[in-house]
Amino acid sequence: MNPLKRLGRRRASVLSLLAVAALVTPGAATAAPDGVRASTLGAQAAQSGRYFGTAVAAGRLGDGTYTGILDREFNSVTPENEMKWDTIERSRGSFNFGPGDQIANRAAARGQRLRGHTLVWHQQLPGWVSSIRDANTLRSVMNNHITQVMNHYKGKVHAWDVVNEAFADGGSGQMRSSVFRDVLGTGFIEQAFRTARSADPSAKLCYNDYNIENWSDAKTQGVYRMVRDFKARGVPIDCVGLQSHFGAGGPPAGFQTTLSNFAALGVDVQITELDIAQAPAAAYANTVRACMNVARCTGITVWGIRDSDSWRSGENPLLFDRNGNKKPAYQSTLSALGGSAAAQRTAAPSPRSAAALPSSFRWSSSGALIAPKPDSTHNIAGIKDPSVVHYNGKYHVFASTASSAGYNLVYLSFSDWSQAGSATHHYLDRTAIGAGYRAAPQVFYNTQQRLWYLVYQTGNASYSTNPDISNPNGWSAPRNFYSSMPDIIRQNIGNGYWVDMWVICDSANCYLFSSDDNGHLYRSQTTVGQFPNGFTNTVIAAQDSKFAMFEASNVYKVQGSNQYLLLVEAIGSDGRRYFRSWTASSLAGSWSPLAASESNPFAKSSNVTFPAGTWTRDISHGEMIRAGYDQTLTIPACQLQYLYQGKDPNAGGDYNNLPWRLGLLTQTNSTC
Ligand code: XIL
Repeated sequence: MNPLKRLGRRRASVLSLLAVAALVTPGAATAAPDGVRASTLGAQAAQSGRYFGTAVAAGRLGDGTYTGILDREFNSVTPENEMKWDTIERSRGSFNFGPGDQIANRAAARGQRLRGHTLVWHQQLPGWVSSIRDANTLRSVMNNHITQVMNHYKGKVHAWDVVNEAFADGGSGQMRSSVFRDVLGTGFIEQAFRTARSADPSAKLCYNDYNIENWSDAKTQGVYRMVRDFKARGVPIDCVGLQSHFGAGGPPAGFQTTLSNFAALGVDVQITELDIAQAPAAAYANTVRACMNVARCTGITVWGIRDSDSWRSGENPLLFDRNGNKKPAYQSTLSALGGSAAAQRTAAPSPRSAAALPSSFRWSSSGALIAPKPDSTHNIAGIKDPSVVHYNGKYHVFASTASSAGYNLVYLSFSDWSQAGSATHHYLDRTAIGAGYRAAPQVFYNTQQRLWYLVYQTGNASYSTNPDISNPNGWSAPRNFYSSMPDIIRQNIGNGYWVDMWVICDSANCYLFSSDDNGHLYRSQTTVGQFPNGFTNTVIAAQDSKFAMFEASNVYKVQGSNQYLLLVEAIGSDGRRYFRSWTASSLAGSWSPLAASESNPFAKSSNVTFPAGTWTRDISHGEMIRAGYDQTLTIPACQLQYLYQGKDPNAGGDYNNLPWRLGLLTQTNSTC
């Protein structure tokens, strides 16, 4: 973004729209390194925005082999027994959170997500509950249990199994007999979900069961009818957990159908307790693939780490053997998640066709989702230049705040786009990042250093780091990537501005891109090991006329291909902002046009529909919703989404005071 000047008057009469010309970099192209495939289950699942979790037993946390695998492979945990009723409230009104806390606190310290299991279940239920015969007593006991437990774990548990295993096996499709159904009637599930929603409105509320994986089974149909009814009547439910305790044959043939049919009701689906007798590699791969093929299948949990940890240990159903070695099913699971079983370097994927992305795009836009939230010390006119990652069940958005007083940064997080507008804005000028000119943030996680980086412009290219993205006060004071502006930029910048710094790494090198509002995209380079130091060899990576290659460049790795995608913001012949796109087979390679012209743009008002009303004609500085969150900046090849800045088409005046808002584009011509 260009913070210092006004461009509203400029028009494209000076523009060269010869956008189909390839932009060739100086310097030789290098072989495309493979930076995408991860070598652990959690990291690989994260690349598609999913989690890969395991059941954890508090009693095993002293076993170093166990915790070693746990922390290396898994980014989500479910307490195997520690949050069940007979542990937490063994006698009425007396709550024991110790063992649950042990797992919860350990997970939080390591950035692992936590599933809550389970609030209302007929098993592992103390006798004092199952012997209640009075409906009013049982209702208040149930509601109190849900409320106390959810309150205690508020903010720590991202999804709760509110009700577990309430449906009967066999052909009835009805609820099973239990103290809850028998005393409260079948409405107890609805009651439990309503209580749960008011106890913790931000946790996802799941119904969890086994033998609901085969679409045609009466039990599956019974649960499906209940979820459909809940959605139709507005009873709060957010997900269905399919336990997936399979026999050696693995998932039933219609498993993916079941996942997508539930998802089509408007709930997430999760595989919550996966184990498969004898752990055939193909059975695990089929299970994982079904989840990967369903967008709303948000994560997979296996029910234990080593075979010896399993509740079905006689069947050896897990991914690690008794000594903690990876079994064949581990390798097939990792591959099905999109990862490489071997080390990254040896995992050279065959280059897929260059058509991983289409050559033209169509989008549908949301309305303005995020507006500035001025307070007594922040008189802000616009919110701009968003960077976003999806991590730990939340979108984390960093953006510039703009006012006539200048620029700074803001952070907000939310679990769903519908909540973006109500999220709290944390002004980062109150942190060590400090007041003064800071703008155009870019956020990513550096996996080697286990640190989040926020890259931004200050006149130089600057960055701060933070071990915990959700803690706005954790950012370090700004440091600069360069001692001063590189010579090649000084020589080419003319009367432009040095803006929009962008870092992306492959497995060997990190690259720092920047723009000059004067037709040049620059690129510097350092090694992954030296990062964030050592950026040298600054070159012009691409160039065009001033307004045709203006600013706000993004560079991404396209998942499952050897393609990189470059987006650059241009100013159109109508004076409005839009994006052009190019691809390359390596980060230091040449960029070839993809949708790079004003008539075939990557994203412009002409290829965007606005079902909620045309609130902007500018599609300006923003960020793709990535498949992961690390330094490889991997994006999906399908169903792209782009968070951008737009503004009231009639607004004018001081550039710094324009009413920029953030909206979300969703691709409508995805073929996969
Ligand atoms: C099992 C645990 O793994 C065992 O340790 C315990 O003895 C019994 O419960 N469905 C569920 C889980 O929802 O809570 C169960 O866990 C397995 C079946």
